Amino acid sequence: MPRSLQGYPARMTTLPEPLSLWVDTAPAPDRTAVPVPEEADVAVLGAGIAGLTTALLLARGGRSVVVLEAERVAAGVSGHTTAKVSAQHGAKYAELTSRHGAEAAKTYAAAQAAACEWIATTSAELGIDCGFTRADSYVYTTRENTVDSLKEEADAAAAAGLPASFAEEIALDVPALGAVRTTGQAHFHPRRWLLGLAAEVERAGGTIVEHARATALNGQTVRTSRGDVVAGEVVVATHYPVLDRGLYFARLEPIRDLVVAGPAAGNAAPSGMFLDADTHHSVRGYTEEGTPMVIAGGEHYRVGAHVNVERRYQRLAGWADAHAGLHRVTHRWSAHDVSTVDGLPYVGRYLPGTANLWVATGFGQWGMTGGTAAGHVLAARILGEPHPAADLFDPNRFDAKSVLGVAQDNLTVARYLVGDHVAALWRAEKLDDLAPGDAEVVRVGGELVAAHRDEAGQLHTVGAHCTHLGCLVSFNDAEKTWDCPCHGSRFGVDGEVVQGPAVRPLRRGPA
Ligand SMILES: Cc1cc2nc3c(=O)[nH]c(=O)nc-3n(C[C@H](O)[C@H](O)[C@H](O)COP(=O)(O)OP(=O)(O)OC[C@H]3O[C@@H](n4cnc5c(N)ncnc54)[C@H](O)[C@@H]3O)c2cc1C
Ligand code: FES
Repeated sequence: MPRSLQGYPARMTTLPEPLSLWVDTAPAPDRTAVPVPEEADVAVLGAGIAGLTTALLLARGGRSVVVLEAERVAAGVSGHTTAKVSAQHGAKYAELTSRHGAEAAKTYAAAQAAACEWIATTSAELGIDCGFTRADSYVYTTRENTVDSLKEEADAAAAAGLPASFAEEIALDVPALGAVRTTGQAHFHPRRWLLGLAAEVERAGGTIVEHARATALNGQTVRTSRGDVVAGEVVVATHYPVLDRGLYFARLEPIRDLVVAGPAAGNAAPSGMFLDADTHHSVRGYTEEGTPMVIAGGEHYRVGAHVNVERRYQRLAGWADAHAGLHRVTHRWSAHDVSTVDGLPYVGRYLPGTANLWVATGFGQWGMTGGTAAGHVLAARILGEPHPAADLFDPNRFDAKSVLGVAQDNLTVARYLVGDHVAALWRAEKLDDLAPGDAEVVRVGGELVAAHRDEAGQLHTVGAHCTHLGCLVSFNDAEKTWDCPCHGSRFGVDGEVVQGPAVRPLRRGPA
């Protein structure tokens, strides 16, 4: 039974337990007992929007496909998004044009627009009831010194082929000084869409296995927690690539965003989709069982950074109450997406020399069209067909600015790797001193331990070193998880992997 839409007043400091509206309102068939097949033409790792789109197109192209999902279908980032299906990606096109050229911006825009149209036609053809609704998309500013850059963005987006223009006014209760309006975009219920795609993968002869975490690749053998598969082609669509090759961990930045949702004041949900160019607060409308709702996102931070997540949720709910008519909060959730150093996703061969290993990642907060476009690029490449965005998205491109971006991001990682260790080594607190609800990385004897005392007073301790590359984890007080600031792995208080790139749990704790 989905949670009631009664909720908590948006202005209150008490908010409901984290739960995605999409996961709550779209029950899924259980595929956790589906046996792992011994072989397949293609093994797709990850049943998010990138993996399932790739799988469906390949199954329709006559390939035998198995999708191996560590958790449940569409319960990863794609089940925790705000689900704007839009080719307007913030103020992207001026940056793309100046960095990669006008042709690149056109190719990017065309791939996103085609993805939006494919979702529109496919959901209609297959009768997938995912609430696909057309809406105009706005990126606006309330700051004088951002207006000119939005005018440039409007020109760049229009030159890239999108129906974009500069608008003086928007239908949101903010003191906007101007906006880029892109007409004819859309939003939907992402999990209903993906459950529909999953069913279609199976109808086309594919197999989907849940609770099968890929842990390694030996040649063409994918090792999973539930058995091995030998596959002709392997597609890594695990959001953050889980294989430690290709230095992806050095080329992706994980940024976490919060979302709150609930019934709209006066039953009037926003009719468009809005994003503040400066603060990155965003909002869209939605209707669940006849109740108009507001879905607002923002308050981003780097995963694992030492921030008070609860306070950020409250700030977001307050903003959505004041500006977007969020009356009560029934659902809140968070997730992170990964951005690349040059603003383009990595979609193509995993490494320059690998023939049968593919990757799709780095959608930079815009994976609804980005992941769908990635599925089209990968399916075309595996089926030996051309795709206009194949070269642009190739993960093995590299320019001087990207090298600089990699260097800067790795300085941040090094700071976490070294700085957090030094700070924690000085913190030899007694575990007995931890109050209910508290969590801390502490030195116990010679070891660093991630310790959390739950509200019932029970102490949970696990090793504090992330099993990906050894950074120290940090507590997320809202989700009650240990999050790694280096590349975004997340673990439960029992140490189990919640999100990769880590594939192994934290060491079970001493004490
Ligand atoms: C808060 C928020 C709001 C957003 N809003 C928007 C928006 O409005 N519009 C938009 O276009 N984009 C938005 N995005 C971005 C978008 O949601 C993502 O880019 C997209 O969902 C990523 O899809 P994916 O398929 O790469 O990853 P996922 O959906 O995470 O799929 C990857 C799957 O791989 C599985 N997996 C992981 N490790 C393994 C393993 N070892 N073995 C097997 N399976 C594994 C995971 O369990 C997961 O199911 C938002 C992102 C966030 C965080
Ligand atoms: S995610 Fe890479 S070290 Fe933790």
